[in-house]
Amino acid sequence: MYKQFINPTELPADHTLTKADLDTPFLAVDLDKMDANVARISQGTKDFNVQWRPHCKGHKSSIIASRLVKAGAIGATCAKLAEAEVMVRGGVPDVLIANLIVGQAKLARLAMLCKEGSPIVCIDHLDQANPMNEMMVREGVRCRVIIEVNIGLDRVGCSPDKTLELARELHTLPGLKFAGIMGYEGHLLTIEDQVEKREKIEEALQLLAENAAQLQAEGIPCEIVSCGGTGSYLLSRMQNGITELQAGGGMFMDQFYEQQCQVTGMEKALTIVATVVGRPAVDRAIIDSGKKTLHVEYEPAVVVGRDDMKVARLSAEHGELELSGDAQNLRIGDRLELVPGYADMTCVLHDYFYVFQNDTLVDIWPLEARGLLQ
Ligand SMILES: Cc1ncc(COP(=O)(O)O)c(C=O)c1O
Repeated sequence: MYKQFINPTELPADHTLTKADLDTPFLAVDLDKMDANVARISQGTKDFNVQWRPHCKGHKSSIIASRLVKAGAIGATCAKLAEAEVMVRGGVPDVLIANLIVGQAKLARLAMLCKEGSPIVCIDHLDQANPMNEMMVREGVRCRVIIEVNIGLDRVGCSPDKTLELARELHTLPGLKFAGIMGYEGHLLTIEDQVEKREKIEEALQLLAENAAQLQAEGIPCEIVSCGGTGSYLLSRMQNGITELQAGGGMFMDQFYEQQCQVTGMEKALTIVATVVGRPAVDRAIIDSGKKTLHVEYEPAVVVGRDDMKVARLSAEHGELELSGDAQNLRIGDRLELVPGYADMTCVLHDYFYVFQNDTLVDIWPLEARGLLQ
């Protein structure tokens, strides 16, 4: 029975497998393009004396996170405690969990993680901090914390005029080590006018700079001022007072970042390789990749190098393409590559990245933290 290779050790010795040798659909990474994107973001943050702690919520792989550290990242940003565990245990000890950690079960795991690595956790209310402090004291560890500030996204975060008061309290808790602040300007990524986008980002991040200055003036060290996603980092990196950026998804790039966030200069390093399975009409084709393979909510996927094919509709396991011109010669069994609308949410539909250099399979990376949502 056919079995997709799922582990580098399963690959035949001296193999030269290409994309054509793997069954579809699968998630393909172009390693050279990915490395070029990584080098660009890494250098692009260094140029502004800002550190880079790329978000791993999209790739969920400690192999990738380690590769990013080798390319200049200081650690990883995570969305979940479980992601942080995977990164620390996979060799990336300096992790920022850009999220709120609540409940005894997670706090016990967090205390254990403090013994294995050096996590940082967000706090926006004393009701998260007090039980965390108690657990850390009981376990004989100190956990670094930063205050998440609401800079306009209106998701989580304390109001900027409450940051100082909360920091004063955190500073007195022996199980916690106050390390700084963060905010996410996620509500500003898709502003079309670039002058307006820059002004709005400057305005939002100024709130963080002002908070940091207030803390320093009180003698509360504010080492970390963190923000930034791929959709904003080109502008956020130049703002006053920012010490680190969280941009992660840019390493793969996708249609959303390019079309809606106007991120330039990056290569599309991530594709879905699909097969045409049906030709119901001359101007329609059905591929084996639907919504369970390809995330398209924010922006449609596109077929690589084919202006004459348009992703028209997806159901769970079927993708429907509209064909014009030469594309109408497409046949059942032909293969296509698609750039996802949003790479982040596409990756987590898959168990493995199949990694290629010049069409040769060079590695297979598991998304180890996929499905680990606690
Ligand atoms: C806290 C936080 N930081 C950064 C990002 C941006 O991540 P990326 O660069 O992968 O788009 C997000 C995206 O949702 C986020 O929630």
